[in-house]
Amino acid sequence: MMYKKWLENATNKMERAAARIGDNIPYQSFDGKYRYMNWDGATPPLWSLGMDMRETESIGAWTNGFWGGILWLLYDKTGKEEYRTYAEGLEKRLDQPLESFTELSHDVGFMWMLTAGANYRRTSSKESLLRLLKTSSHLAGRFNPAGNFIRAQNGDDRIGRAIIDCMMNLPLLYFASELTGDPRFANVAAAHADTTLREFIRLDGSVFHVVNFDPKTGERVGALEGQGYSTESSWSRGTGWAIYGFALSYLYTGKAEYLEASKRSAEFFMSHLPQDGVPRADLLAPLDDPACMIDSSAAAIAASGMVLLSKVSKEELWRNHALRLLEALQGTCVAGDDEEALLLHGNVGYHRPLARDIPLIYGDFFYLEALMQLDGFSALF
Ligand code: GLY
Repeated sequence: MMYKKWLENATNKMERAAARIGDNIPYQSFDGKYRYMNWDGATPPLWSLGMDMRETESIGAWTNGFWGGILWLLYDKTGKEEYRTYAEGLEKRLDQPLESFTELSHDVGFMWMLTAGANYRRTSSKESLLRLLKTSSHLAGRFNPAGNFIRAQNGDDRIGRAIIDCMMNLPLLYFASELTGDPRFANVAAAHADTTLREFIRLDGSVFHVVNFDPKTGERVGALEGQGYSTESSWSRGTGWAIYGFALSYLYTGKAEYLEASKRSAEFFMSHLPQDGVPRADLLAPLDDPACMIDSSAAAIAASGMVLLSKVSKEELWRNHALRLLEALQGTCVAGDDEEALLLHGNVGYHRPLARDIPLIYGDFFYLEALMQLDGFSALF
């Protein structure tokens, strides 16, 4: 039961971090401490420190719900009211991008399931319910019925673009159907999941990161390497999104094909690890490429996804795989007390030299969530 010790260490560390960070929104640790988002100008922007943080230095960034998620996990574990208060403060801060609207993307699922979703499930907060209804309506509105996919990002060159990450945003839609009794949201989610199964998941369980569709006809027009090594490879974090995302779609729908897809990607993930058991940023990249560096966040996401997979499939194998991944992280990536974050060696993208080998808030969230799930707590999605 080594994971109990790992969980205790992680919880203690995040409790210490919470005493400093409160309801601020950290993203990446630099010089041993998490930096907050810089929308208020209070801290130097990360790019001024030489980091490549192009998608994350704004209040609308996809990463801005993860600290809220960590705070709700701490609340579940300790019952301390201060974590709920901080999480509610952070959720309120996210009203800014919700109201200004233009920055919203498909990542409303990540951002609001870990904040408003977690809050509503624990407190029945009316404000949280409204945020869930607004954000799920936005996500459903990104659905393109010609191709049965949810548009991922904004920008005129991305109208027909869908990405594997979106599988993690679908719980917001399934949850909206539960909240409203209206199946439209869940129907959109399942249609997108079906398209992802067909267009992104290869027979061996490896995944495409980005698929482009003609937004008028819905026809597939090609794929892109995205944050992975190449178009035909399998970005490790994206493979983790597939494992976890399809297990979640199975949880909400009971559709056997989703369970099978999650298992297929999990098998691929585990059978493509290097000797030390820690994933590099792409599962099919050559290990002798100097850019082929560890992505601790991919291990944490896959581990948390596999614990859920084990629960929904009632198969012990996946829990054992999750434990193997978490064990491999202990010797290589789990940070000591000179570092506020839990995991070192996060990797934003294979071809992003200034955004590699860094602690990332989502790596920490999924690491803690994986350990808490092993200990009987529920996942937040
Ligand atoms: N969802 C973006 C990423 O995984 O980097």
